[in-house]
Amino acid sequence: MGNVIKKLVVGLVVGGALIGITRALEFPTIFQMMFFAYAMLGAAVFILLDAPSMKTLSGGKSLIALLVFYVVLCAVYIAGASMWPQYDPEDEKGKIEKILKPKRAATEQGKAEELLARAKALDEQAKALAERIKALGGDQAPAAQAAGGAGAPPSTAGAAGGDILKIGEDQWQLQECYNCHKLKGEGGKKRGPELDNIGNLLTVDDIKQKILDPKSWMAEGFEKEYEKGKMPDKYKDLMEEKDVVALATWLGTFKNTSVNTPKPIKKK
Ligand code: HEC
Repeated sequence: MGNVIKKLVVGLVVGGALIGITRALEFPTIFQMMFFAYAMLGAAVFILLDAPSMKTLSGGKSLIALLVFYVVLCAVYIAGASMWPQYDPEDEKGKIEKILKPKRAATEQGKAEELLARAKALDEQAKALAERIKALGGDQAPAAQAAGGAGAPPSTAGAAGGDILKIGEDQWQLQECYNCHKLKGEGGKKRGPELDNIGNLLTVDDIKQKILDPKSWMAEGFEKEYEKGKMPDKYKDLMEEKDVVALATWLGTFKNTSVNTPKPIKKK
């Protein structure tokens, strides 16, 4: 009995030392506990060595004893293992899902945004094409209806053909210049200059140049916006030469001196 206590004490001391070392090395708590358990297991084995030897078994009995021992061992291992959360596949799946979910969401959103941008570009192209068909006299073309857009006043809806000012006004709507520029008191949510007096400040050719190359002119007082390239540099790709001319011509008719359109400064 004294031997048993001695071996138990040695086991406890070794186990305690192992806990101290693993804690100092910042092992996870579960590992510290495992090291302690191994020390106790070792102590148990040494204690068992002192146990009186069993009666020798033979024949069928020994075979059954062996099988029972095997089954008990298996049960202990499986039961023990399933107690650890990391052996639960659902737990693993949960962890992986947690890592992947935000990534997946990010790529899906990216894809959706890309598709939306592509759809918008196509839509703009389609509108520009419809506008051209209309300009060529194909006023029966069904697309002309779409090209009219919400902004087109009904009184001019029938004016198909080469009405350049009408095309210019439509382009203003189609290219969504009104998003940034106020004109006739409408639009300009994204803060670009009001353009009601642009006809007094720029020639039609200058306006055309500004549309095709936004870096060519800078509105006075809009230095920051100019530097940041707020006005999109895409119209040269989206618009037909003829449409740019029409838009510039239409804008050139705006000579309302009561509106403070900023002075354009030549940059190129
Ligand atoms: C995303 C916003 C945005 C859109 C869309 C936009 N612009 Fe601009 N535009 C600006 C800003 C900001 C400035 C002032 C800075 C500069 O000159 O680059 C400006 C300046 C101008 C000027 C010079 C004004 C002045 O007083 O000097 C003209 C002309 C102009 N834009 C025409 C257009 C036309 C035509 C369209 C449509 C085809 C258009 N813009 C679309 C933001 C925009």
